[in-house]
Amino acid sequence: MSQLDGKIALITGAASGIGLAAAQLFAGEGAQVAMFDRNADLVNETAREIGSSALAISGDVTSEADVANAVAGCVERFGRLDIGFNNAGIAGAAAIHEQELGHFQHVVDVCLTGVFLCLKHQSQQLIAQGQGGSLINTASINATQATKGLSAYCSAKAGVAMLTKVAALELGEHGIRVNAIGPGHTRTPMTSRAREVDGFDEAMIGATPLGRLGEPEDIAQMALYLAGDASPWVSGQLLYVDGGITVNELPPGFNPLESRLRQPRDD
Ligand SMILES: NC(=O)c1ccc[n+]([C@@H]2O[C@H](COP(=O)([O-])OP(=O)(O)OC[C@H]3O[C@@H](n4cnc5c(N)ncnc54)[C@H](O)[C@@H]3O)[C@@H](O)[C@H]2O)c1
Repeated sequence: MSQLDGKIALITGAASGIGLAAAQLFAGEGAQVAMFDRNADLVNETAREIGSSALAISGDVTSEADVANAVAGCVERFGRLDIGFNNAGIAGAAAIHEQELGHFQHVVDVCLTGVFLCLKHQSQQLIAQGQGGSLINTASINATQATKGLSAYCSAKAGVAMLTKVAALELGEHGIRVNAIGPGHTRTPMTSRAREVDGFDEAMIGATPLGRLGEPEDIAQMALYLAGDASPWVSGQLLYVDGGITVNELPPGFNPLESRLRQPRDD
């Protein structure tokens, strides 16, 4: 028997990277998956590749109407919701003293407010169904690890970790578990520009006890664990999947202000 047989999942940021790997893994484990992403073309294409167990929904996690529609669309197509993987995010570097307010707000809107909106509408559905569920948020090692130039991103991810705890407190009585994943540096389109910086990969790998960068599937496996029946008494946690890098300091040479990370990746 597969780990998610009969379960219905809604995944945000599902057209690329970690979200796509989770959609593929969940579908392979018997789930039906609503794939929500702002990139309409890519989410349609990737959902088509997964097949009839996937539904593409285009929209923006910063729009409450879009998030509400995504939950409603998932329920309309698959009949219910069991799992929310709130994973959409963007990163962008700017020093605090020269950062535009709009830059800071945009990163926080996508990475933190988007997770709030998803938790709100998913939990309403799960409470109405009355059978519990699992909600999973993507934080980062930057929830607890500061990095120069990433004030908005680090603040948003720290917020995701605390929002996860509050949601776990509030929703436990409904049998709803809420957890966060803290990925380390993972090979996805989001990090492709950082990896073009000379020495970046080597520095990261050198600081990582397991001696390699993460792959999207590494993070998706943790999402699968949290989504399914293997973690029935796990809630309110931030679980790092990072090759052990958080036992170390991030390499001092990693300074996004000196790289081409200055603009949020927002395409
Ligand atoms: N890759 C890493 O090293 C790493 C490390 C720590 C945390 N994370 C987090 O993992 C999550 C996934 O990142 P990834 O590396 O797979 O990146 P990615 O860029 O490959 O995928 C992110 C997806 O989110 C979508 N998205 C962005 N903004 C959106 C919005 N407003 N509404 C709906 N969809 C939106 C994008 O279109 C894209 O498909 C993010 O929350 C990111 O912060 C990534």
